[in-house]
Amino acid sequence: MTEAQTELHKLRKINRALMERVELSMDQQGNAYSLFQTAISLEEQVRRRTGELSSTLADLERSNLQLINAKEAAEQANFSKTRFLAAASHDVLQPLNAALLLMSTLSTVQSTAEGTRLCRQVEHSLETMDTLLRNLLYMSRLDAGDVRPHWQTVSLDMLFDSIASDFQPIAQVRNLELRVRRTGLHVWSDPTMLRRTIQNIVANALRYTRQGGALLTAGRRGEKVHIRIADTGIGIEPERFKDIFVEFQRCGQGPDDLDGSSAGLGLGLAIVERMVNTLDINLTLNSRIGYGSCFSLTLPFEQAVEDAPAKASATRGTDKINGVKLAGTRILVIENDLAALQAMEALLKQWGCELRLASSTRETLGALNSENAWVPDLIIADQHLNNNERGTSVIRIVRQLIGRRIPAVVVTADPSERLWKMADQGRIEVMQKPVKPAQLRALLTHLRARSSELSA
Ligand SMILES: Nc1ncnc2c1ncn2[C@@H]1O[C@H](COP(=O)(O)OP(=O)(O)OP(=O)(O)O)[C@@H](O)[C@H]1O
Ligand SMILES: [Mg+2]
Repeated sequence: MTEAQTELHKLRKINRALMERVELSMDQQGNAYSLFQTAISLEEQVRRRTGELSSTLADLERSNLQLINAKEAAEQANFSKTRFLAAASHDVLQPLNAALLLMSTLSTVQSTAEGTRLCRQVEHSLETMDTLLRNLLYMSRLDAGDVRPHWQTVSLDMLFDSIASDFQPIAQVRNLELRVRRTGLHVWSDPTMLRRTIQNIVANALRYTRQGGALLTAGRRGEKVHIRIADTGIGIEPERFKDIFVEFQRCGQGPDDLDGSSAGLGLGLAIVERMVNTLDINLTLNSRIGYGSCFSLTLPFEQAVEDAPAKASATRGTDKINGVKLAGTRILVIENDLAALQAMEALLKQWGCELRLASSTRETLGALNSENAWVPDLIIADQHLNNNERGTSVIRIVRQLIGRRIPAVVVTADPSERLWKMADQGRIEVMQKPVKPAQLRALLTHLRARSSELSA
């Protein structure tokens, strides 16, 4: 190889190496460029996605706002419904109360069997209307969170006894057996709401049973008490367990198929569900078609203590306690509604009570001053009087004037939380309208007996 050829070979090698380096560097530049391009496109994508996300977020915010507005509107509608129902029910319950009291008096003065039968029918219709209105009102109040439990120790024996006396006649008419087992147990609950819960379930147990009957019992397991209402009735399909707690839902087979008695509205268990939620009671249901059903309620166990209101309900229907009779009792009745006042007057007179009637504070003071020695043994006052006067205030004034805590009952269509509190502090009994004559009589007899015990 000549020197020139060697030089040429060397130069070619150098050239190749240089070319390779150039190519490599161009490649690298190309990568950097494509990376740069990728970065740009990624940024573009990120920007696009961010844009999409922002608009989705904005959509969400918009629909959230719409939801909040809809919720507020629904709450407002619910509130208006509650207020409407409360107002309507109050206005309807007032005359209904008077009508029921008058019917009770009217039926006692009937001389023919036909007259008595007709009176009973009218009374029954009025009571049905009363139950319906009361249930609707109560349900809407439970929905609105307007019902707050009055927690106390509740004797299950007392509760079961009163349920037994309410339902034994119904069981007899249907040829069924109602067994109630006394256990001596107590629970921590609201006696009125618990009673109402069990009543609804027992009513169903008797209504949807053809043969056999129902058993109401309780048992303790640790710190819990289980109340069970079992029946040997038609049973409920498991798929319907949820449905039956929805308002106005009734399963195919109603009482019409069983005994021809009037059908329910499908409100009983809807109210039960709301009440057990409010009372924090665990409710379970077991049932088999054709074999029967068992509703079980689980509540906190409570040590026994004697409570006065329970005593009052235990004496229900008694005319004479500790030798004290209602006849001859002096009662001051304060009521602004003339029809209600007259109805109450007729009823109390029938029981042989001596009365003074008033419709306001002024008339009350007049009634007490007109005859020096007349001091009432008991006071019955309507809570909502004219000119914003309250029954509880008039009672307080009378008690101050006479210087003694005269036993008193406030009657109202819709007792509020405040009234319960006021009544609690002022030791005033609260009774819901329409007043049931038997309950009123039992309460008045009890109050009269208690006050003579205290003054003895
Ligand atoms: N113990 C039971 N046995 C069989 N079916 C029952 C029983 N309790 C409830 N059901 C069914 O559940 C439905 C709903 O009961 P719910 O108490 O709510 O209404 P209702 O008894 O029809 O009417 P209401 O109680 O308002 O007078 C009833 O119609 C009935 O079909
Ligand atoms: Mg029912």
